[in-house]
Amino acid sequence: MALDTTALNRQMTHFDGRDAIWLFGYGSLIWKVDFPYRERRPAFIHGWSRRFWQGSHDHRGTPEAPGRVATLVRDPGAECHGMAYRITPEVLTPLDVREKNGYLREVVALNFTDGDSAEGLIYLATEENTAFLGDAPLDAIAAQIARAHGPSGPNRDYLLNLAEALRALDVDDPHVSALAQRLA
Ligand code: SIN
Repeated sequence: MALDTTALNRQMTHFDGRDAIWLFGYGSLIWKVDFPYRERRPAFIHGWSRRFWQGSHDHRGTPEAPGRVATLVRDPGAECHGMAYRITPEVLTPLDVREKNGYLREVVALNFTDGDSAEGLIYLATEENTAFLGDAPLDAIAAQIARAHGPSGPNRDYLLNLAEALRALDVDDPHVSALAQRLA
């Protein structure tokens, strides 16, 4: 089980003084939007790939039987597509709690699909957090997702909702679609 990252994230001062911040969502933040935002725009970030390599002990699994949820891994030349939200700084308080199982705020360069760019923030779970599970054969990842269930619901719903949201954005993510096919 990971260290609770809530307190660490509250120490981040990078965006202090701003009245609004761009948050880039690449996992559940694309399809589970339970926070207020001023606007949202499809966007992508360079040099990252989405992977179901982060353990979920608190939302989509339990400490005894963790699920698997999305994080990003460095991948030069790759692009990860998702959704950017313009939020006010106080919205980070509940998001830090939602993402507390190993995710840390990280500053990134965002590219909006329709043109311009901005500095933004992601919640990133690196291999240094103790909930990180890392790579495994796709069949094994899919089987773990098929079994796992946590306080936020079945792990399969996380995966299938993400696959559906990416389809709606016209985004092809071979890792997500290969897993979704195994669960369908
Ligand atoms: C994100 O969606 O951007 C972070 C990971 C998650 O909450 O699924």
